[in-house]
Amino acid sequence: MSADEDVRTTVCPDGPMLVRGASSWPDDNGELHPVRRPVVAVCRCERSQLAPWCDGTHKALPRGWDTEGKGRPVKK
Ligand code: FES
Repeated sequence: MSADEDVRTTVCPDGPMLVRGASSWPDDNGELHPVRRPVVAVCRCERSQLAPWCDGTHKALPRGWDTEGKGRPVKK
């Protein structure tokens, strides 16, 4: 992702963040992953096996895991 890109994001409640217009996206370690599609889903639940991309694992989490809107699962 570079500063001159027109990147737009949309947060899906209890789901990923949709990213449009990025050429790459960083993982938690800062490593950049190339984006090859117009829209990609970035994991917010921190459970994906394909991070930084969403692999659908969030669907197995209890509803409301994103209650604070920060993308962190509720841990008990
Ligand atoms: S948001 Fe979908 S796997 Fe994490």
